[in-house]
Amino acid sequence: MQVQKILGECKKNLIDLDDQIILILKAIEQNISIIIEGESGTGKTELAKTIALSLKRPFYRADGDENLTITQLRGWFDPALVIESGFGEKSFIPGPLTLAMLNGGLFFFNEVNRAPSESINGALSAMDYSERSIEIPQYKSIKATDGFYTIFTLNPAEYIGTNPLPEAFFDRCIRVHLTHKTGKIAEKIVKLRTGCTDKGLIQKCVIFTEKTRTEANFERGASIRAAIQLTQLLMDEESKEKQISQAINAVYSGKVKLQPDISRSIEECLDEIATEIFFDKRPKNV
Ligand SMILES: Nc1ncnc2c1ncn2[C@@H]1O[C@H](COP(=O)(O)OP(=O)(O)OP(=O)(O)O)[C@@H](O)[C@H]1O
Ligand SMILES: [Mg+2]
Repeated sequence: MQVQKILGECKKNLIDLDDQIILILKAIEQNISIIIEGESGTGKTELAKTIALSLKRPFYRADGDENLTITQLRGWFDPALVIESGFGEKSFIPGPLTLAMLNGGLFFFNEVNRAPSESINGALSAMDYSERSIEIPQYKSIKATDGFYTIFTLNPAEYIGTNPLPEAFFDRCIRVHLTHKTGKIAEKIVKLRTGCTDKGLIQKCVIFTEKTRTEANFERGASIRAAIQLTQLLMDEESKEKQISQAINAVYSGKVKLQPDISRSIEECLDEIATEIFFDKRPKNV
């Protein structure tokens, strides 16, 4: 694998993730499964998709939720076709894991900790670098074609609705941890995603977002997605104070959470930061 060449491709779409890209490419080369973990909006999906695109291999996705079964991941038999032709190739509808194995592509399993452990257990043999196969009941064993690899994402901050992952799962993977990008790097990401040329506006949107993560009033802050959205809403024309406040509320009110002991509303707390960053009404030191 030409790691430097693929890294160059990935860098066109990913800011400040060079070390993580190299680590992931080395793991893919050695058939080691990868977990990308990090809070919402830290770039997990973008990283996995960009690597898959740069490798020019097919991409198959599954999203973890409590109803996801191993049958959905492996594939199932169409009852009408089974009556016609029995259990076999004609009646088998492959799921994303099987398709990735057959076509030598990426099996991307998003939010794996939301899926039941049984479903993950059923995929372990595919992830094992010595086995790289799965058993389809009443059919056959499927062996992965060269080029097959697996990437999982999980958000360790999310405990509600998530299942403890089996030890054997972690044992087969390496973990790549992503954190929120800040300052100039975050500004570069917003510029790349929005095409906005107003540096001042981007800077304000990034600082605003960071404040929601650092100010004591907030239990949960917003990610770079919020900075991207706010920039998009404000970038085309000179916005008045009222429009800026409306855009801020629209972008942030569903993403942030106040500390339980705060008696003010989310709007009031957001407005306080807006006053400081966008309307510059800070009390001047005299
Ligand atoms: N390092 C980065 N370089 C370029 N774009 C980035 C980077 N980090 C985040 N982004 C952008 O930020 C947004 C959020 O990223 P992404 O969707 O990958 O987050 P995520 O970690 O998968 O979040 P979630 O857990 O909510 O699914 C996307 O628009 C993505 O393009
Ligand atoms: Mg994602």
